Amino acid sequence: MSLINLHEGVALVAARGAALGAFNVTCWEMAPAIIAAAEAADFPVVLQAQWPFLEYAGAPVATRFLTDLAEQAKVPVVLQVDHAKTWEQVMACLRHGFSSVMIDASHHPINDNIGLVRQVVKAAHPMGVTVESELGRLSGSEGDVVVDEAEASFTDPREAAYFVEETGVDALAVSVGTVHGPYRGEPKLDFPRLEKISQETSVPLVLHGASGLSPATLQQGVTLGVGKVNFSTELREAWLGAMRRELASDAADTLPCIRSAQAAVQKVVAEKITILKC
Ligand code: 13P
Ligand code: ZN
Repeated sequence: MSLINLHEGVALVAARGAALGAFNVTCWEMAPAIIAAAEAADFPVVLQAQWPFLEYAGAPVATRFLTDLAEQAKVPVVLQVDHAKTWEQVMACLRHGFSSVMIDASHHPINDNIGLVRQVVKAAHPMGVTVESELGRLSGSEGDVVVDEAEASFTDPREAAYFVEETGVDALAVSVGTVHGPYRGEPKLDFPRLEKISQETSVPLVLHGASGLSPATLQQGVTLGVGKVNFSTELREAWLGAMRRELASDAADTLPCIRSAQAAVQKVVAEKITILKC
């Protein structure tokens, strides 16, 4: 099918009141399982690579592998890097063929965040590559992004409007009560804040830290302006759970273990796509 950018992907599903699921690839074999779930659902998907995976796998080879998978998929696929933190990381992804990049400069003061995002937008847009960035900070841990509760902050709707206007970004990751990693207790989202941010900005919002959210919470988010939803923890839990079961059964070969883990990830991705299709 085709490798598309995030703007094209969101437009495809927003027309039917749905949102795109973005699923983190944290090892090679996870990627085909994510594509298989999207093909079975006949729904576009975001294949999302964390920088630590790209660094481990070697960005040029890993990107070639992921773009090949995306181009051969039977559904449109957005290939995005997740939480890239530096100009150099983003440039590597642009050079190797990503169709979308996330530059997460949310740890910087707002004007520095704007400066870096604006620079990335200027480099990416002429190549047809879309840009997601983040304002506000989620607590928890995701790859090499680790934020304690004391450092976390919610997104301010007025600031979000200014940020989107100043940067020209295509999608905005917001902090409205979700966390990266497992939740302690019931997740509590600030829906009025999400709605206000959506009213103040003209771009699709991105919900990070979506593992552990109920179907009703996810669907309410989509109704209020979320166009992309990020999942990672539940995929890794499914992968590791299946691996542990295989290893406990005295597995003597690698492929059956990998196949079980892929099936477990595919099941999680299929469930999330069903929820986001609304
Ligand atoms: P979870 O790991 O909490 O699902 O968050 C995923 C995410 O936000 C990836 O950027
Ligand atoms: Zn995230």
